[in-house]
Amino acid sequence: MTTTPNPVTAIPFGDLGRQYHSIGKEIDSAIKRVLDRGWFILGEEVKSFEREFASYIGVHHAIGVGSGTEAIHLALIAAGVQPGDEVITAPNTCVPTISALSFAGAIPVLVDVDERSYNIDPDKLERAITSRTKAILPVHLYGQAADLEPILAIAREKNIPVIEDAAQGHGATYRGRKLGCFGLAAAFSFYPSKNLGAYGDGGAVVTDDDSTADRLRKLRNYGEERRYFHTSKGFNSRLDELQAAILREKLGRLDQWNDRRRQIADLYNRTITNLAVTKPAEMDYGDHDYHLYVLRCGRRDQLRRHLEANRIGSLIHYPVPVHLQEAYSDLGLAEGSYPVAERLCNEVLSLPMFPELRDDEVIRVAEAVNSFV
Ligand SMILES: Cc1ncc(COP(=O)(O)O)c(C=O)c1O
Repeated sequence: MTTTPNPVTAIPFGDLGRQYHSIGKEIDSAIKRVLDRGWFILGEEVKSFEREFASYIGVHHAIGVGSGTEAIHLALIAAGVQPGDEVITAPNTCVPTISALSFAGAIPVLVDVDERSYNIDPDKLERAITSRTKAILPVHLYGQAADLEPILAIAREKNIPVIEDAAQGHGATYRGRKLGCFGLAAAFSFYPSKNLGAYGDGGAVVTDDDSTADRLRKLRNYGEERRYFHTSKGFNSRLDELQAAILREKLGRLDQWNDRRRQIADLYNRTITNLAVTKPAEMDYGDHDYHLYVLRCGRRDQLRRHLEANRIGSLIHYPVPVHLQEAYSDLGLAEGSYPVAERLCNEVLSLPMFPELRDDEVIRVAEAVNSFV
């Protein structure tokens, strides 16, 4: 028996090859520049990228580190978090937020999220604070800001530092300012599929605070003050020269790519009419960067299978909230502890979203969503 190939071309969830092909020459010459120079760790490219990224975000310092997870980990240590301290964050985040916190020895204290923004609910924050709370870590999930003003007000009153998890928030804004400039520090990830992505792992911490920046520069480099003289204990977690050179090339295009993501989101919003799904809400306090375009649907798994049958890729960010992950069963938090986050994890579905996605593909995805009954 022969099978007839499906004549419809697949629409992938993501396609980093398309981006490389659009800027390949520039990327190749950035890589060659590093290879020709023969300097691979903490050199000119990292220094320049740190200056350029700090200026893009609107802060004094950026410190390139090995990943977004490491950015959170080191930022928490630099903020003075010690083993046994409590750190408040959201239960529907990507697990690395919690990995970073655990590796700093901190205990995650989870606060349920807002039904519209999918981010930490400021009204539930205050009652989670104890005398052991040593940091608040709001996550800007999917590229939409958490409601920072009330969070910062509570943090100020209680004298607790705020570290933003801006791993998905490159270029998104809150009340006119870029995410990353609100707390004591903020962590960014340059995982390849992020809005600003490297060709490997990478991350950065940004801060306006000189002494936090100083601490971070040592922490990422074995606690070294000057070559072979170590004034504190530290790690090896550095953004490398190749990744920094690639990121410099991409940074100049970030705003244009984010604009294209917003256009795609707008086209999805205008074309999807199926009442069985809820489209993402855009909060009026900021610009979403649409790292992800996330629908909600009560029959999410069936919708996903329907898209798959139409050769359309989709992903679930994230199917299991942190407190119900096997790895975090020691938190002792049963199902029902965070009803909004739990409901979201059962209903969310991310549609294809990357700047090189064509309008005809967006419309085909939207029409496939509309044909789901
Ligand atoms: C919200 C969030 N926090 C933290 C991270 C960790 O970043 P990385 O994968 O670069 O370690 C990610 C990305 O995976 C993320 O999406």
